[in-house]
Amino acid sequence: MAVQSKFRWCLVLVLGTTLSCADPVSEKLNNPNLPKGERLFLQNCASCHGENGDLGASGAANLTTSRLDKSSILEIISLGKNGMPSFKGVINSASEMDSLVNYVSNLQR
Ligand code: HEC
Repeated sequence: MAVQSKFRWCLVLVLGTTLSCADPVSEKLNNPNLPKGERLFLQNCASCHGENGDLGASGAANLTTSRLDKSSILEIISLGKNGMPSFKGVINSASEMDSLVNYVSNLQR
């Protein structure tokens, strides 16, 4: 009985590890043709907002129900707000910022 339950835990661990290795974010990032805005979002934002924008980790706003326009999105990314860090100096070029703002804006449903 004890041996059996140990074995079961082991299986759970192995399965868990396998699943986390194949997590969809790193799989997407491996794609060289991933659009720039999506890449920047997955690299910098998905930890709190989730890959679809609706994870809400660390109190992150739901970006699918957000109604911010592009200039407000740009402002929040640059300056940060409360628990949302500033990405000034991280998203460096205007063209990167542009792709990211467009991507975030398109997450709104
Ligand atoms: C450390 C967690 C964290 C990371 C990383 C993060 N955010 Fe946020 N984000 C937040 C939190 C928390 C809020 C809510 C801020 C508030 O209104 O108090 C927020 C709010 C926002 C909003 C405002 C939405 C609204 O309708 O009010 C936008 C847009 C946004 N984040 C975009 C991004 C983008 C783009 C990135 C990546 C460059 C990013 N966030 C990375 C935590 C994070």
